[in-house]
Amino acid sequence: MAKKDLLSIYNLSAKELKALLNKAFELKNKRKYLDVFKGKTLGLIFEKPSTRTMVSFATAMVQLGGMPILLDSENLQRKRGESLHDTAIVLSRYLNGLMMRAFKHSDVEELAKYSTVPVINGLTDYEHPCQILADIMTIMEFHKVKTIEALKKIKIVYTGDSNNIVNSLLAISVVLGLDFTLISPKEYLPKKEILNKALEYTSSTGAEIKITSDINAAKNADAIYTDVWTSMGFETEEKKRKKIFSSYQVNSELLKKASSNCIVLHCLPAIRGEEVTAEVMDKYENSIFTQAENRLHVQKAVLLHLLA
Ligand code: CP
Ligand code: NVA
Repeated sequence: MAKKDLLSIYNLSAKELKALLNKAFELKNKRKYLDVFKGKTLGLIFEKPSTRTMVSFATAMVQLGGMPILLDSENLQRKRGESLHDTAIVLSRYLNGLMMRAFKHSDVEELAKYSTVPVINGLTDYEHPCQILADIMTIMEFHKVKTIEALKKIKIVYTGDSNNIVNSLLAISVVLGLDFTLISPKEYLPKKEILNKALEYTSSTGAEIKITSDINAAKNADAIYTDVWTSMGFETEEKKRKKIFSSYQVNSELLKKASSNCIVLHCLPAIRGEEVTAEVMDKYENSIFTQAENRLHVQKAVLLHLLA
């Protein structure tokens, strides 16, 4: 059987997404420790810093009976120029799976192309699929939604930079047929090809997608999601971005427009006072930190799906 990778949300069908979410809830509710991966190893390559992705993947692997191996890209021969081609072939001869956090999405694709074991995208400049599975899980959990049909009635709003998080959120929304509003300044809306690819799904899945620069579109939101204005790799634009994004902050004024039981989401790390106020972070810490916890449950479901 051909190996499966998770490089993009689009690698998963609606059926697979539902199964993964169900599995993640099952693992969370039963607090299951399994030994299915006894003797198996997962390599975790990081080209960028990480707290949640690194620790949740490592813990997930241990809780499933296997062993994670942290591979800081600074310490791999790749730093001295070894190709991803050779790295992928060699690592596939030792490991049962690979996760990579990279600057360029094409690097994760190249790793997957030459690797004979499953490759998971742990964040690139294009997508963050594992994060978005945890986000949807959190929305379902807090709004007590048991099915995707019921999830379709939840208005999900994202405000801020149209980054890797948005690309994955847009992808999962169109594949599952969700109600998703993206609020982002004109200069920072997703690229045309990303939007076109997403919008191709809407007629078959019935997804309600709204793309706007008007912050008032957060009206009646059931979940408001934001992320940093300057993602890793874009640091030189920080000053310019702070100005442009200031009216897209998640603050108590914005939350007045939302539904009374609206939750706030942030993939973290957050910069209090920029994309979200400290007050909102504190008030909504339960949904935000449960979202971080859910990374662990989702990662276990993803590993079982790809490696078992
Ligand atoms: N949300 C997320 O991926 O966090 P880390 O960068 O800490 O892994
Ligand atoms: N968009 C952020 C997400 C961090 C988890 C970044 O890429 O830096």
